[in-house]
Amino acid sequence: MQQRPLDEAAGTRVSALTLGAMPFGTTVDEETSFAILDRFVEAGGTTIDTANCYSFWVPGGEGGESESVVGRWLADRGGRDRLTIASKVGSGLGADGGAEGLAPEVVRTQLEGSLRRLGVDHLDLYYAHREDRVIPDEETLAAFHQAVTDGTVRSLGASNHTAWRLAETRALAERRGWTPYTAVQQRYSYVRPRPNTTLPEGGHVHASDELLDYVHSHGLTLFAYTTLIWGAYSRPGQPLPEHYDHPGTDRRLRALAKVSEELGASPVQVVLAWLIGGTPTVVPIVGVSSVAQLDECLAAADLELPRELRRTLDEAV
Ligand SMILES: NC(=O)c1ccc[n+]([C@@H]2O[C@H](COP(=O)([O-])OP(=O)(O)OC[C@H]3O[C@@H](n4cnc5c(N)ncnc54)[C@H](OP(=O)(O)O)[C@@H]3O)[C@@H](O)[C@H]2O)c1
Repeated sequence: MQQRPLDEAAGTRVSALTLGAMPFGTTVDEETSFAILDRFVEAGGTTIDTANCYSFWVPGGEGGESESVVGRWLADRGGRDRLTIASKVGSGLGADGGAEGLAPEVVRTQLEGSLRRLGVDHLDLYYAHREDRVIPDEETLAAFHQAVTDGTVRSLGASNHTAWRLAETRALAERRGWTPYTAVQQRYSYVRPRPNTTLPEGGHVHASDELLDYVHSHGLTLFAYTTLIWGAYSRPGQPLPEHYDHPGTDRRLRALAKVSEELGASPVQVVLAWLIGGTPTVVPIVGVSSVAQLDECLAAADLELPRELRRTLDEAV
């Protein structure tokens, strides 16, 4: 699988596909999680996405299960230095029942917890999982920069941030000589929600055209989540969620069906190839619950979309 630089200064790299570890240890049992991780690495994947809070909302979940499973897998299989491990802070449950946010002490203590559960001495990428507009950015960014200075984090990322907040926080970091966010993680796929719809999934922020433009013009890396719309592209009995219901979706699904047929590839594979080879280049995070689903996704990493078929997909709006 192809690798690309994530952050030249830190020497971090990412594989064309990232493996989403969110369900590991809750809805996906440990044995299956290990098999998925093994297969991903065997296929040349190097980048794993988790978070301190995965997955507290699942019945019986507390948060931390995903990192713990990845940690036990790393301890058993080794090879940590060949991997790019990303985790996040900010969306865990706070004392008041809302999000924990990005206060400096939260960043520090949650980072310690993530490192402990993963059994590693550093994260390759650490994200602010969502915006915190209460805590001054100066305080959050100083705490993140301190982690980079301490060597417990290599590169920083922002997830679920609006374009203007991303630009503002990066400018502030630059003024202070601190490490800026170089990775962005946002919800993004081939079909898009209706304009101005609020996504029902708390905290999810969709990549706007402005954000895509910012990422491209500043050479940042965009990681996209919920790229597979939870399997809706390939399961006839699973309709797209209601907020995707608009005429542009019908046009996109028709284009997707046409291109899939012409290429002899599945819709899932075409969507992933469209993301990987587009502008800006996207690193799709694939969430899977079986090795068979992963195998279907892995084939997309080498799928080249001929120019005219990419145009067919792009022009369906
Ligand atoms: N930064 C954030 O706020 C944020 C938010 C959400 C997710 N994420 C990251 O992104 C990752 C993926 O997100 P996600 O799980 O929300 O979305 P997703 O990747 O769109 O959906 C994953 C689900 O799609 C189905 N699927 C996968 N491959 C398939 C295939 N080949 N054929 C048919 N169905 C298939 C499976 O459903 P079944 O299990 O039902 O079979 C799988 O559990 C997470 O693990 C996490 O790392 C980040």
